[in-house]
Amino acid sequence: NWTMVNIADESIEAVREQVGPKRVICALSGGVDSAVAAALVQRAIGDQLTCVFVDHGLLRKGEPEQVEKDFVAATGVNLRVVDARDRFLKALDGVSDPEEKRKIIGREFIRVFEAAAREITKGGSGGSAGPSPQSGAPDAPEPVEFLVQGTLYPDVVESGGGTGAANIKSHHNVGGLPDDLQFTLVEPLRNLFKDEVRALGEQLGLPSEIVWRQPFPGPGLGIRIIGAVTGDRLDILRDADAIAREELTAAGLDRDVWQFPVVLLADVRSVGVQGDSRTYGHPIVLRPVTSEDAMTADWARLPYALLQRISTRITNEVREVNRVTVDITSKPPGTIEWE
Ligand code: XMP
Repeated sequence: NWTMVNIADESIEAVREQVGPKRVICALSGGVDSAVAAALVQRAIGDQLTCVFVDHGLLRKGEPEQVEKDFVAATGVNLRVVDARDRFLKALDGVSDPEEKRKIIGREFIRVFEAAAREITKGGSGGSAGPSPQSGAPDAPEPVEFLVQGTLYPDVVESGGGTGAANIKSHHNVGGLPDDLQFTLVEPLRNLFKDEVRALGEQLGLPSEIVWRQPFPGPGLGIRIIGAVTGDRLDILRDADAIAREELTAAGLDRDVWQFPVVLLADVRSVGVQGDSRTYGHPIVLRPVTSEDAMTADWARLPYALLQRISTRITNEVREVNRVTVDITSKPPGTIEWE
C-alpha cells in the first residue's frame, strides 16, 4: 500500500529533522500506539532511542514477554525493562476504590519511569550513548531531550475530555515529571487514526499480536479486580482472561469485538458444586463489547457455543472460579470497564 509507505517515510524523515543527533526516550506500555510510535522512531534514529518498559504486574498473560522478546526481535530497539511488580502490589495493598487505584498506578508509573529516565540520562542506557558531543567532556553522554508519545489524532481532538482518552494521557503524562526532567514530545502518530496506526505497525514488521491488540486500559488488570488487588487475585484473573482470549481467537472473532474485559468479582463469593462437594469461589464477568470509539458501546452477541466453551474451561481450569456470567449492558448506561 503506497499510501502507508508514504506515511512511514514522511514520518521517519520528520522525526529525524525534529531530534537531530539528540537522544530520545520512550515508555512502552504493551499497547499498539506506543509500540508503533517506538518502532517508527527506532527506524528514524536507531541507537539514539532507548525504550523503557515498566512491568507493573498488571498486564495480561504473555504480554510482558511480547514486549520484552517479540517487540525487541522485530525492531532491534534498546530496551530497559524495570521489574516493578512488587512495588505496585505494595502501593496497591488494601486499596479497593477505583479512582484511588488509578491515582496510585499513575503515580508509581511516573516515579519508576522517572528513575529509569535519570539513569539513562546518566549514560547507562541499554545501547551505546554515541560519541560525546564535546571533546572537553569525554564521558558525558548526550542528555535525553525528547520523549516519544503514541498520541493519535482522536486524542489530539478530544484532549481535555474526562473519559478514558484523557486517562491514557494522565497515565503517561510528562506533566507529572519533575522540572529537571522536562522533555520535548515526539508524537509521530498525531495525524493518524487507529486503523492507520495498525497498518503502519504491520508495515514496520511488528508482530500481529501487538498490532491487533485490543485497547487495554493503562491501569490494566488493576481495575478489573473488583476489590483490593493481590498477587493471587491477579493470577486468577490472568488465567481466566487468557482462556477467554484464546477461545475468542480460536473462534476467529478477534476483530469482531472492540474489547473483551474479563472481570474478577474478588469481594463476592458464590456457592457452587463440584463432584460431591460444595465450593465457595468467585464469579467472573465476561464483558465483550462492540464499539467504534469506546465513547458508546454495545454488548457483543457472541455465539452461545463460544460462551459455553469459555465458561466450561474457566470453571474447570481456574480452581477459584465457580461461576461465569456475561454482562449485557450497553454503554451508556454501563461503562466498558467495571471500574
Ligand atoms: P469506559 O470504562 O470508561 O472505558 O467505558 C472507555 C475506554 O477507556 C479505557 N479506559 C482506560 N484507559 N486508563 C486508560 O488508559 C484508564 O484509567 C482507563 N479507564 C478506562 C477502557 O478500556 C475503554 O477502552
